[in-house]
Amino acid sequence: MSHEVIIIGGGAAGLMCALTAAQRGRQVLLIEHARQAGRKILMSGGGRCNFTNLDARPENFLSENPHFCKSALSRYTQWDFIALVEKHGIAYHEKEAGQLFCDESSRDIVNMLLRECADAGVELAVNCPVLGVSAQRGGFAVRTARGTRSCVSLVVASGGLSIPKMGATGLGYELAQQFGHTLVPTRAGLVPLTLGGSLRDEVAELSGLSQTVQVSVDGAQFTGGLLFTHRGLSGPAILQISSYWRAGQPLWVNWLPDRDLAASLLRAKRERPRLELATVLAEMLPKRLALRLCAWAQCAGTVGHLGDSYLRALAAQVQRWEFAPSGSEGYRTAEVTLGGVSTAEVSSSTLESRRQPGLYFIGEVLDVTGHLGGYNFQWAWASGHAAGEVV
Ligand code: FDA
Repeated sequence: MSHEVIIIGGGAAGLMCALTAAQRGRQVLLIEHARQAGRKILMSGGGRCNFTNLDARPENFLSENPHFCKSALSRYTQWDFIALVEKHGIAYHEKEAGQLFCDESSRDIVNMLLRECADAGVELAVNCPVLGVSAQRGGFAVRTARGTRSCVSLVVASGGLSIPKMGATGLGYELAQQFGHTLVPTRAGLVPLTLGGSLRDEVAELSGLSQTVQVSVDGAQFTGGLLFTHRGLSGPAILQISSYWRAGQPLWVNWLPDRDLAASLLRAKRERPRLELATVLAEMLPKRLALRLCAWAQCAGTVGHLGDSYLRALAAQVQRWEFAPSGSEGYRTAEVTLGGVSTAEVSSSTLESRRQPGLYFIGEVLDVTGHLGGYNFQWAWASGHAAGEVV
């Protein structure tokens, strides 16, 4: 059976592409191998889907070509998606830093996309894994577990490798290579980092404790929550920095980003010299963390007995604490996959392959990855829309 457009992957990007193309009158088949479309949307944002960000802009995305995302993002903005959400009467709120979440449930977003697809006449095939693709005269043959379909335009929206148990496969990368595309090496992004050796055991004792910090690696810096886990470090600031961290690199944590710690310690020495150093730190940090930092820094005693230069050096250490992560939790828990289909061989305005006419790549399968905070969905909506306008 033949279709004008086949889209592989019923995630955020595939659904947006399908409804956009069908609204233009294209005859669209959307193929999804899971039992239902939009499973990652359902589990996103703690079940409330952080569906976009008021401040979404190209600087919020990582890619070998940081300019690539500009065209699609400028033609389908956060305001376009918000208008769609409002048209469907979905209540939402801003949580922090421009992040928009559903008041009720992520299901509202999935239902909205499915309704738009149904109204526009998209044919949706779920439970239908795509097994392979071949180019044929005038288009493509798409081999699925339920037979072969053919199409003129083929859109690859099969996502990245994160959370394999949710249905992630490497199909998009295989198809890209089959048609002569280059892959930027993939790695887990927006992912907790692990620590090794005795450090891991010591950190495990702090498990569950969180602190607002500034965390940095060479070239990037984020402020936000850090959460100690049984295996290492998590929380929004760590997830953000994980997309920039490379194996073997150190990262630095400022435990008190809004404070001149040296001045605070010297004042405590002057005004309350008999206080233990750990007690002074515990006035600014959770007590367990203050005690742990003192143990790591091997410092003890009353502030009155410590020299000014010692206190200044300690403050500098606490405000640039070095960790050497042993790795990350990997794709099992990563929110996104960094790298993917290189943007060098894809049109930034149409998302069409420069290697194979009629073939398109959208969403996370491409080497475009957003920061934490609704940016990845905005890329899925924008790239899906851009391809949907031309397929
Ligand atoms: P996505 O992965 O959504 O869709 C790809 C689809 O293709 C899947 O449905 C898959 O089953 C299907 N597929 C794969 N192989 C196939 C095959 N061989 N045959 C047929 N179908 C196949 N982002 C954000 O902006 N805000 C948020 O709140 C969150 N929260 C969040 C939480 C968690 C736990 C995760 C894992 C991720 C997020 N994200 C997020 C990231 C966001 O979910 C992600 O970037 C987008 O879903 C990517 O959309 P895509 O459509 O490109 O891929």
